[in-house]
Amino acid sequence: MNVFDSIAQVQEQTTKWVREGKTIGFVPTMGYLHEGHERLMEEARKENDKVILSIFVNPLQFGENEDLDQYPRDHDHDVSVAEKYGVDLVFLPTEDTMYPAPLTLNISVVRRADVLCGRSRPGHFEGVVTVLTKLFNICQPTRAYFGMKDAQQVAVVDGLIQDFNFPVQLVRVPTVREADGLAKSSRNVNLSHSEREEAPSIQAALSHATDLVRKGERNPEEIIQSVREFLDSRTRGKIDYIELLSYPELEPVHSIDQTVILAVAVYYEKARLIDNVVMGKDGVSELR
Ligand code: PAF
Repeated sequence: MNVFDSIAQVQEQTTKWVREGKTIGFVPTMGYLHEGHERLMEEARKENDKVILSIFVNPLQFGENEDLDQYPRDHDHDVSVAEKYGVDLVFLPTEDTMYPAPLTLNISVVRRADVLCGRSRPGHFEGVVTVLTKLFNICQPTRAYFGMKDAQQVAVVDGLIQDFNFPVQLVRVPTVREADGLAKSSRNVNLSHSEREEAPSIQAALSHATDLVRKGERNPEEIIQSVREFLDSRTRGKIDYIELLSYPELEPVHSIDQTVILAVAVYYEKARLIDNVVMGKDGVSELR
């Protein structure tokens, strides 16, 4: 496995692979790898001749009051995990390598970004699409792997690939869960004992919603209200949002007659948890 920090080294290697007709699976990350990332590497390994993992904490996607400086880093651990999952190349650039000079262009995300988590993180998705544009050009992937825990990011990346015609296949990978259904997150360790016991109710609330749709409920307001009552009776966490939108467009819907996402965010004392389900009009979740 190669660990490269220069763009030229990576581009030289990926250009060679592309010429040889090799498929390249790409897993972009900000490091501090956990089981969610491991699932992405596993999928990439299964489907491609070569696998690239990038590790870069992208300053452009952090707001002024966000935790860029506190963002956890452990490169030695990450490189050994990459090795274990059969990654061929780790790209580990510095900030100066990725952003040697102020950018001339600014990509604005004009849809899919002003709802859900994007509402409270202005500029976040602009940062994500900017770094991914660079990473796609450097790594030249055939397929790029993203976890559905961040379903909004997946929707925005889908827009990036469509709008700019990147020859990249977006692979959506299901959320990795604990045995009791709680979506895996590095933030789960910040839950108190009783909060941890209550937190699986978030996923249970999503299943409750798919049951309602399966039984014929089509009214988004009714579903949201029922999910709110479900959560209120099972957890003391404070609901940040419960939204039901078309997917991947993330537009409001008046009736469930297409693929939709139901997304939930709940505040606990020291952690804000998010989860979602993407389902068809028959209430069957599209990714498990
Ligand atoms: O999901 C992440 O870790 C980041 O947003 C990504 C896709 C690596 C871009 O910096």
